[in-house]
Amino acid sequence: MVNFEKKKTEAFFEKSFPQSRRNYVSQNNLANRDLILIKKIFPRILKKNSRILDFACGKAEMLSWLNEEKKVQILGVEKSKGQIDAAIKLNGKKIKDKIIRGSVSYLEKINDGSFDIILAIGIFQYLSDKDFKKAFENFNRILSPKGILIATFQNLFFDLFTFNRFTLDFYFNNLFNEKKKGIPAVPAELKKHLTKFMPYGEKPKKDKVRARDNIYVRLSNPLTIKDDLVNFNFKTNKLYYYNFSGLPPEMKQKFPSFAYKVEKSLELKNSENWRGAFMANAFVCELSKIR
Ligand SMILES: C[S@@+](CC[C@H](N)C(=O)[O-])C[C@H]1O[C@@H](n2cnc3c(N)ncnc32)[C@H](O)[C@@H]1O
Repeated sequence: MVNFEKKKTEAFFEKSFPQSRRNYVSQNNLANRDLILIKKIFPRILKKNSRILDFACGKAEMLSWLNEEKKVQILGVEKSKGQIDAAIKLNGKKIKDKIIRGSVSYLEKINDGSFDIILAIGIFQYLSDKDFKKAFENFNRILSPKGILIATFQNLFFDLFTFNRFTLDFYFNNLFNEKKKGIPAVPAELKKHLTKFMPYGEKPKKDKVRARDNIYVRLSNPLTIKDDLVNFNFKTNKLYYYNFSGLPPEMKQKFPSFAYKVEKSLELKNSENWRGAFMANAFVCELSKIR
């Protein structure tokens, strides 16, 4: 597990984050979580006059889709210049006026009740604890009374399903080792023993592109997230899992067609099924303000 370091996170998104070639104006290459938004959430909540904020809009893929397909009023906020440049390259100059360079502190400049929908897709896992809290406080303030926050989280329990080095992280850093509850850390000898039990304990190989190998990535517990978000004055109306893995990743190579069939049966069609709590690496929450 990598601890949060502001500079490392910034540099990762400026330089190392893989450059996507997708351009959302054509709907050909939508990611799983985009399909959840487009097929399951937007049809219920999107109105012609919805004012939308896409926080950490990245390469503006969803922003561009909403702009082109739905013609809604949308503003993107993005910290990384590299990402904004890529957004303009992918979607043309017309996108330029729709994105402001800024981070969580930019939210403080926005007036109360300015947006009806806020997207926070693929961002909460990269924030420091302080910014995580600050983002929720501001989202609550700048949303209109009936506004909706759509946020994604990385699923903590997926690590349990993978039988690899991330599973060991789950045991050593999450299951055990919680000072607040008095749960002890795993002693070195037992650590060695547990490591031997993990069939793919050395895999996957570390690389420069995987966020978790390079920067802090917050993992969230889908069983407690509803209560956790109440502390930030948000009620969870819906929770959808996405990015299902039909088998633990290292096993997929041996049984690819079984894994594919499982994925096909669960992804999108069964996005609210309990299996997602283990087999999907992320989830989307649809949230409304408690007050
Ligand atoms: C995984 S990408 C997600 C981009 C986009 N929302 C999407 O779903 O395709 C994460 C984005 O968050 C941005 N980011 C990271 N830390 C940020 C911060 N503190 N404030 C604003 N944006 C940040 C990164 O530059 C990157 O563009």
